[in-house]
Amino acid sequence: MCGIIARIGRGDATETLLSGLENLEYRGYDSAGIAVQNGSGVKVHKTTGEVDDLKSTLDARPSGNIGIGHTRWSTHGPPTDENAHPHTDTAGDVAVVHNGVIDNYDALRAELRERGHEFESDTDTEVIPHLIDEYRQESEDTELAVRKAIDTLEGSYAIAAIVDGEERVYAARKGSPLVLGLDEEEWFLASDVPAFLDHTDEVIYLEDGDLVVLEPDAYRITNVAGEPVERSVDTVDWDPEDAGKGEYDHYMQKEIHCQPTALSNTIEGRVEDGTVAFDDLESGSFADVDCVQFVACGTSFHASMYGAQLLRAAAVPTEVIRASEYEAAAGPVDEATLVVAVTQSGETADTLDAVRTAAGRGARTLAMTNVVGSTAAREADDAIYIRAGPEVGVAATKTYSSQAVTLALLTHRLAEDVPDATPADDAEAMLEALEDLPRHVETVLETSQARALAWEVMDNQSYFFIGNGFGHSVALEGALKFKEITYEHAEGFASGELKHGPLALVTEESPIFAVYTGGDDEKTKTNAIEAQSRGAPIVAVGPDDHPLVDVADAHLCVPETHPVWAGLLANVQLQLVSYYAAKLLDRPIDKPRNLAKSVTVE
Ligand code: F6R
Repeated sequence: MCGIIARIGRGDATETLLSGLENLEYRGYDSAGIAVQNGSGVKVHKTTGEVDDLKSTLDARPSGNIGIGHTRWSTHGPPTDENAHPHTDTAGDVAVVHNGVIDNYDALRAELRERGHEFESDTDTEVIPHLIDEYRQESEDTELAVRKAIDTLEGSYAIAAIVDGEERVYAARKGSPLVLGLDEEEWFLASDVPAFLDHTDEVIYLEDGDLVVLEPDAYRITNVAGEPVERSVDTVDWDPEDAGKGEYDHYMQKEIHCQPTALSNTIEGRVEDGTVAFDDLESGSFADVDCVQFVACGTSFHASMYGAQLLRAAAVPTEVIRASEYEAAAGPVDEATLVVAVTQSGETADTLDAVRTAAGRGARTLAMTNVVGSTAAREADDAIYIRAGPEVGVAATKTYSSQAVTLALLTHRLAEDVPDATPADDAEAMLEALEDLPRHVETVLETSQARALAWEVMDNQSYFFIGNGFGHSVALEGALKFKEITYEHAEGFASGELKHGPLALVTEESPIFAVYTGGDDEKTKTNAIEAQSRGAPIVAVGPDDHPLVDVADAHLCVPETHPVWAGLLANVQLQLVSYYAAKLLDRPIDKPRNLAKSVTVE
């Protein structure tokens, strides 16, 4: 977790660092800091809290053309001023920001202490500036000292360092993301592109083992041995406006409302005359696949349930496995197993670990992600992008919709390629109906009664979400979103499971959101009615023409469409309910407590 940024060039670095950190806050927001270098020492400013808190501690903006910055999600040590980054060596000459985890920091710290180094924080990071300082004293060659220091580290890192008196930024990556941004008059390094998207869309995605030296008018990439490394320059097709909140109060609200556009981008150019095409994956490229495993976490897991249900309908043996449980839960794999890692960020440690395990066991791997150049995209054998545009709100919204649609398209392709697959009877109808999905989402956004409903249902004890089939995925996702941003107790169940235990919790103070899609929803209807007879208010979430609507206490309506897409429309209604409920409760919607968007620790 954590976001890092570095900047070197003409003019002052501070404003760029602060605005870059704001765009990285989705990665962590329990403390923040910057260090700038201006020829009269390295000046560090850091504090507990968010980037706004950091800004308010800066009476006068520190000036300097070279700087680094950090926004933290604590792993080692609580969120305190001392544990905030940047960290320095004892003399304060070397300042470092770090994203990742140094596994051998305890041993390194003990050795360094014996040699006279003093530590001020509980963090694993603090050993890095001390190591650089030690090696600099041996040779006075800072680049060599950085190489030796990172060679000593075990674990994962993206680091950026500045050194008193040097017109340089040093950086390195292993296992944590780091992107180089190239503008005409300045260079950037950051954990993610939105940090510098206002300045440039020309990027280099660095690889594990890369070490970068930035100078005001040049940059060099080498490996740890100091040998030059060639990396290609890519142009990012995100709009700088994608990185801001625009007219909305929250990123989450913006991201819910831009789903029609996100979905149009997801679909564009991929469906023609009833067939599905993905760049770089020609027809027949899955002809040697005989079974599929989806691995994912959280919201991406819920989207994967969509893919799994569709694939099973096409007679392709499929498992959907929580990535953190992969070691224990996955069935055997071989080269005919396609392991699909569904991950918005492409950086989730549990998912990456599952993919590496699967690849180690001989499986073919495919990353389905939103982030070009992410670790999942680079490590998997193939990558498919969901093209949702940057998602900054910690609660995933538009990426769930784009993942589910991309998964539906992938299953269509697999059903064509996999030798024993038999495309589902309604596969063509599903593709045809997809064309109208962005328009239907627009209709939901324009007509939703979710805001009024949120006001009505708040002030209850628990909130339950049920659904079967595609509705099951949506029920789980609805409950996750609700608890994540309202902090209220919410659970999602397969409709039929309600009576196997959870019914004991049902009272008149536990509204039940019953998600149905117009497919086989019988269990949702009967279980909702059973809960209603125990006093629970029922909110029906689905198309108008359904018997549940007549018995429900409230209805969130979605347009009539194919059941697969009706589920996604129901999910948009639930996103809106969660958003308005959290707003009513005055929660920090974009930055829920204890969470961060990309979970890069296991
Ligand atoms: C919930 C949420 C998380 C993520 C999960 C996986 O709103 O965003 O549950 O879905 O941490 O993240 P990715 O998709 O980046 O692997």
